[in-house]
This record gives sequence, structure tokens and C-alpha cells, in this order.
Amino acid sequence: EIASKAGTALLDWYDVHARDLPWRVSPLARRDGAVTDPYRVWLSEVMLQQTTVAAVREKYLRFLVLWPTVEALAAAEDSDVMAEWAGLGYYARARNLLKCARAVANDHGGQFPDQADALRDLPGIGPYTAAAIAAIAFDRPETVVDGNVERVVARFFDVDTPLPAAKPELTRLAGRLTPARRPGDHAQAMMDLGATICTPTSPACGICPLIAGCAGRATGRAAELPRKTPK
Ligand code: ADE
Repeated sequence: EIASKAGTALLDWYDVHARDLPWRVSPLARRDGAVTDPYRVWLSEVMLQQTTVAAVREKYLRFLVLWPTVEALAAAEDSDVMAEWAGLGYYARARNLLKCARAVANDHGGQFPDQADALRDLPGIGPYTAAAIAAIAFDRPETVVDGNVERVVARFFDVDTPLPAAKPELTRLAGRLTPARRPGDHAQAMMDLGATICTPTSPACGICPLIAGCAGRATGRAAELPRKTPK
């Protein structure tokens, strides 16, 4: 029940402190009927894979102006998309982006599948992106685990096992923190917590919504976690 209390505290924190990012629909707007477009979630998650939020922001908005729907992107010229991708790096992602848009447009009637396992069958969509789209766009109870989430979880449960060996354990523990309600907001709250409070060095434990249940804080080891096997 420590984990479920933490899940609730994190959502309460997110309602006040969520970063204002262009691909998000705020809980407030959602209450007014705004819906989350899977195309936008997918596009932002692919862009964010190896690129910072700051660099993605403008690119994402520009892509939406040029190609507002997955069908529009599917019909784009390869060279136009590659040119717009400039600056984001890792061009294989841009090629997969187009392949995926065309698969959704041609094989799925322009609709993204609404389950993680079906999403994983699409080009360029791995376990992380599939879980993110399923949770954020379709409210599926999937747990989204990236580097930020691994750090938060390693600290909250005081996991001493070094990465990468700790990955399966951290994924399982991240699942325990995921509430049945609002899994997409929970996933993005974990990302925001990792980016703004539970930072790699000098975490701001004094203002952390998870401080009450955080085992790493209790042992004084939070800032040293997660441990890493030396290369
Ligand atoms: N990094 C990856 N996905 C993200 C999201 N939805 N919000 C903020 N940062 C992210």
C-alpha cells in the first residue's frame, strides 16, 4: 500500500506541476472533453527517444503543421521528411517513422492499434514506445520504463543491484507503482519527476511528492542510485 499511496501522491503532484509540453493534453482539458491523439503521442515519443525535450518542442510543432495526420505523413515525400528531421539525429528513426506512418495508413485504416502488443508489430515501435502510446493515448494499464523511470524506481525501492542487471527488477517494481487509474498521466508524471526533482545528481528530496515512501531517502543512498556496473 506504500506503492499505491505513492501512485496517488504522484498524480496529485502532476495535476499541479506537469510540464506544459505541446504533445500533452492536460487533465483539466481532458475533463472538458479534449482527447489525446495517438498520432501526436507516437510522433512525440519517437522524437523524444534520443533527443531532449527542448530540441523536440519546435520540431514536433513544425511536423504537425506540415503533416497534421498520420495519413498526411504517410503521403509525404521521403526527402521532405528527412529534411525536416535534420537536427534530431539518428536518421534511422526518420526512416522508420515513415514506414510506420505508411503501415498505419495502409494496413490499419489510418488508426493506430490500441494495445501495446499490436503497436509493437509496427516499424520502429519497441516495448518502450508501445507502452507509452498504449498508456498515454489509450489509457491502457501499461508501465512505461525509460532511464528516468529506472532512476526513480531504484531510489524509491532502494535497489542496490547495478544496471543493466537490475533492469528486470526495476521494470517489475515500476509496475507496482503504476495505478490502475490514469496510467498515461502516471507515466508522464514519472518522467517529469525524474527530469525535475529526482535528478541524476542532487535530487530535490525536500520537495518530492514521493518522500514519505522513499526507501532510498530513508537509507540516505538516493543520490547514489541507480548503481552501474563499470564498463
Ligand atoms: N520523454 C519521453 N516521453 C516524454 C513525455 N511524454 N513527456 C516528457 N518527456 C518525455
